[in-house]
Amino acid sequence: MIDQQTFLRDAMRRLNLIRENFSERIGVHKRALDTWLLPETSGEYRAMPDIVSKFVNEILVKDAESHVNTQTVYSARSAAPLSTRIGHQGKPQLLSVDQFSRESVEDLMRIADVMQPIARRQKVSRILEGAVLANLFFEASTRTRISFGAAFCRLGGSVCDTTGFTFSSMTKGESVYDTSRVISGYVDALVVRHPEQGAVDEFARATNIPVINGGDGPGEHPSQAILDLYTIQREFSRLGKLIDGAHIVMVGDLKYGRTVHSLIKLLALYRRLKFTLIAPPTLEMPPYILERISGDGHVVEQSTSLAGGLKGADIVYATRIQKERFADEAIEGYAPEFQINQALIDANCDAGTIVMHPLPRDGRPAANDLSTDLNYDPRLAIFRQTDNGIPVRMAIFATLLGVENQVQHSMRDAGWRSPSHVGPDDAMFDGLDG
Ligand code: NCD
Repeated sequence: MIDQQTFLRDAMRRLNLIRENFSERIGVHKRALDTWLLPETSGEYRAMPDIVSKFVNEILVKDAESHVNTQTVYSARSAAPLSTRIGHQGKPQLLSVDQFSRESVEDLMRIADVMQPIARRQKVSRILEGAVLANLFFEASTRTRISFGAAFCRLGGSVCDTTGFTFSSMTKGESVYDTSRVISGYVDALVVRHPEQGAVDEFARATNIPVINGGDGPGEHPSQAILDLYTIQREFSRLGKLIDGAHIVMVGDLKYGRTVHSLIKLLALYRRLKFTLIAPPTLEMPPYILERISGDGHVVEQSTSLAGGLKGADIVYATRIQKERFADEAIEGYAPEFQINQALIDANCDAGTIVMHPLPRDGRPAANDLSTDLNYDPRLAIFRQTDNGIPVRMAIFATLLGVENQVQHSMRDAGWRSPSHVGPDDAMFDGLDG
């Protein structure tokens, strides 16, 4: 049995309803629904009556049946395990967000919801006991490497790490194929980050074990996009908004930023979005991505200045200039007024706007990046975003290793104590994230 909060969140996601419409649909007061949606540890939490959960289940079954009549392919695919549905060339590997449909990414987010008590250190699980992960990072990383490692450990597995080329046999001329095949004999899964686009695919071709793309040059960063989508979905659920029809503003280095390449494609699985893409002329979103997004029926507006572009934004997604990917190009037109700061957000956005960034950000005062003066503004979701990296990456591992259905039964209470809020400022957001 999954917990009540996970069950209700998932039902709303499947029915594509915000709390207001969902409470109407099941014939209860929104205030009652809100108490059922709280974590069990909250003082305001109430258990939902059995009759309501039966009714919600009936609605879900009816909804699934209506898909059978209208979209046979869609429902036939949902019968297969998630790792088969999202697999890459028949292998349980995650290389690109192109492997997802809206249904499969929402299924993965449901597994992330199930992982929340473990991510919050209330529960422990050993479903990956005995499994070993190799984290191969040939490029700088803090969040991605450590959160993948921590996610694997929290499910009971162990992690081997290598960082950079210096201490790898690749400096002796060893090929990607040999490296990947050799390490596959030692471990059960690989997370690879590499400065060249397509290099992680090469690692994946040389092995049958799960490989996850932790960022391949300016290519893709699928796990980041999934945790970004998960964050957007959770923030919207709190604000009573749906992803369909949302206005998403992306700012910064849209040419080399792999996080925005993956995120825009993942968001495009939803309907009628408006994207405002703000970048200096030399750092615009690659044309092949733009064509695809417009072809999917979304509105795309491009701008080279921040002024005006932020108006009406539901999400402002800021990014860092990827200087390490520049050959000799100068960054033209990237004036300090590209900085996303408190004054700019106050002048252009309302209380329902969410500000995100994949991090790291250049926090120095004159940097053209996300300013630190927004740190106390509840609209800034960057640390809720990084926290979401753990349940999402646990969900990815559990799915690719085929144990996603065992998580719920495997949980035991954590035997140690940890603070209720991990960050000194998190208490002020208490309740925002349910
Ligand atoms: C990003 C990356 O490496 O692509 N960081 C991350 O994984 N969260 C963004 C960046 O480096 O700017």
